[in-house]
Amino acid sequence: MDTRDITILRIIDGLWETYEWVPVIEIKDRITWRIRFNQHIKSLEKLGLIGWNKSTYGEPAVKITEKGIDTLAVWDFKKHGVIDDIGNVIGEGKEAVVVYALKDNEPRVIKFHKYYSAEFHKLKRSLSYSVINWWRKKIGRDIRPIDFPRAKAQIEYHALQKLHKHVTVPEPFGINRHAIVMEFIGDKIPAPLLSQVKKEPWMKEEIMEDYQKALDLGVVHGDMSEFNVMVHDKTYLIDWPQSVPTDFISAEELIKRDKKNLKFAFRSL
Ligand SMILES: Nc1ncnc2c1ncn2[C@@H]1O[C@H](COP(=O)(O)OP(=O)(O)O)[C@@H](O)[C@H]1O
Ligand SMILES: [Mg+2]
Repeated sequence: MDTRDITILRIIDGLWETYEWVPVIEIKDRITWRIRFNQHIKSLEKLGLIGWNKSTYGEPAVKITEKGIDTLAVWDFKKHGVIDDIGNVIGEGKEAVVVYALKDNEPRVIKFHKYYSAEFHKLKRSLSYSVINWWRKKIGRDIRPIDFPRAKAQIEYHALQKLHKHVTVPEPFGINRHAIVMEFIGDKIPAPLLSQVKKEPWMKEEIMEDYQKALDLGVVHGDMSEFNVMVHDKTYLIDWPQSVPTDFISAEELIKRDKKNLKFAFRSL
């Protein structure tokens, strides 16, 4: 990988609203050099960062892959000094991959919101979908296509930014495309989830207090359960991409459900 590969990837990525498949000629139009252009395209394909479609518009066209978008995000995080290095996968769910990273020899994590995470009809029923559409209407952006993983990264990043000085959540350090970098919770290895530890009264007290503080700041988590709390020196509320403002249409119901799930998690106390 060199800066020319990155330039080509950036151009393809930048055209996502215009083309599903970007004609190669559109890329050539946007760069001043031609030397080894075809080799660069081939090597990007070999690395699995782009895919080919030779028949669209009767001319060669390419599409960035999920791995390609991940690569751009990591490249830009490094360029902007948000991380120095990237390590192993810590956790992988249906909708996100969490990866270990380093900055000045201190651990951080990158959370990549996944593309193609669910079939579209499932996506349409998800909370993230209705929240993103609600925001779109609010700011009058109905027509533009939306990129769900990027929108979810935005929602999660803004929630963490708004909350981290008042509520125990991971501190956010940066956002790029569909990925966010945040504080690593744990001590060399990630802290356990609330689902994995013996429940104690102080945990319940802290979580309830923090949940209420988030509401006071106008943020409803929306997916609260023992799987989205990490227990370290304190309890950390994590996983905010589906959070909604307290004036969202179904906020009341979501708050009720969140509280019910927490009560259930502590049923043994
Ligand atoms: N800041 C963090 N520090 C350490 N580990 C984390 C952090 N955030 C998430 N993880 C780990 O990654 C897993 C998935 O993260 P989460 O935000 O819940 O995404 P999702 O549930 O959508 O996959 C968590 O269960 C936890 O083990
Ligand atoms: Mg989770």
